[in-house]
Amino acid sequence: MRTSIHHALALVPAFSALAAFGGGCVKGNPIETEGDLVTEGGTLAIAGCNYTLTTRDGAEAPRAGVPVFGSDPTPRLVHLGLMGDPKTSMVAQWRTADEQTRASQIRYAKGANLAAADLTEKQEGVEFAYRATGTDLIRMHQAHLCGLEPGTAYSYQVGGTDLSGNQSFSPVYTFRTAPDVVAHPDAEVVFGFVGDSRGGYDVWQLLIAQLQQRTPDLILFSGDAVTIGLTQFEWEEFFGRAEPLFARVPVISAHGNHEVNAINYYSQLALPGDQENFGIDYGFAHITVGNDTPDDISKLGGEFKDRLEADFTASNAARWKLFMHHQPMFSASTRHGPSTTLQNAWLPLIDAHHVDLVLNGHDHDYEVSKPMINKQVQATSDNATVFVVAGGAGAELYDSGSDFWTLYSEKTYSAAILHVRRDQLTMEAFRQDGTPIPQGFSKTKP
Ligand SMILES: [Fe+2]
Repeated sequence: MRTSIHHALALVPAFSALAAFGGGCVKGNPIETEGDLVTEGGTLAIAGCNYTLTTRDGAEAPRAGVPVFGSDPTPRLVHLGLMGDPKTSMVAQWRTADEQTRASQIRYAKGANLAAADLTEKQEGVEFAYRATGTDLIRMHQAHLCGLEPGTAYSYQVGGTDLSGNQSFSPVYTFRTAPDVVAHPDAEVVFGFVGDSRGGYDVWQLLIAQLQQRTPDLILFSGDAVTIGLTQFEWEEFFGRAEPLFARVPVISAHGNHEVNAINYYSQLALPGDQENFGIDYGFAHITVGNDTPDDISKLGGEFKDRLEADFTASNAARWKLFMHHQPMFSASTRHGPSTTLQNAWLPLIDAHHVDLVLNGHDHDYEVSKPMINKQVQATSDNATVFVVAGGAGAELYDSGSDFWTLYSEKTYSAAILHVRRDQLTMEAFRQDGTPIPQGFSKTKP
């Protein structure tokens, strides 16, 4: 983990600093800003939260916001993420329209749909810039709230105030923290599951609207948001079209091969742990997330497998175990099909830890498997795993197929909703017009 802080002590005119990177889009008068735009990443302890924020090579070290506005401090692409306990924490993220604005603040209060004047709490945020191919610098902002109450609605808005008292804030949105299932054993949580939006943002927007109607608590995105991870204009479409949902519901993402481990991905998505292989408890579910396209493929069966195994082991007592990664181990699509590389690397973990449901994308169709253990179809789902492919969030569709493990497959755009209760896990999938796909998933435990 990086611990060094790279930003310089000297005050450098922002215009000159940006020009050093060939940066256009500098409007208005050059302003004084601190930092020499060294983009080698860094780590910052987040006050009030028991975690640190680490940025990667290609981004500045994160630092506390200061009351400085650039030419257009409008908050854009507001979306929520999670780095801590979802019962008590939330991360709000946004970029500013210009790359110079360093003011970062969240205003919030307990209660749904409050007016801006009623947001009585405020907290300073953090910011950092990253270098996105084809677009100059992007200034990201994050506000981290910890110590929240479980199962509780909060209203918030993000933005900032400059030294002259000028304000620029987003609309007010409402989010809800995860329930405390010890105190409320009858609690139900709802997950949206969707992936592979790349290049198909009209369909993506339709599916986002369908998901929003179903009022999820958490979005599980299985990767391939964009065609090439470094192209910021596609990220603008991805987050922009999804803002009505993503500003209200946190997103947990798995890294897809089209993200190519780009700095844009790691800078725009606040995720637990190292952002690649991690786990999160939400309601009665434990969700393990893996990156199946590491920068070094040898990591799959090495350190990534070790990290996933550690998470599966630590969560063995979970009522429901979900595992989300991008490329399916069981897919009958004629395009990619099953990944034997991943079967060899990770399938023994899935079997050993009795994962209930594996969530994938990559093949742009919809498929649900029969219950499986060690590549063998089982008569019941007890101790077995069902594998779901739902890579139809907008990218061009691939032909579906059928193999010995296939329970149902369909060439269609799709997303799904999971309902998680102590004794039951269900999944219902639907097409972009909201019509239901006949085959979902349902499992009960005593
Ligand atoms: Fe993919």
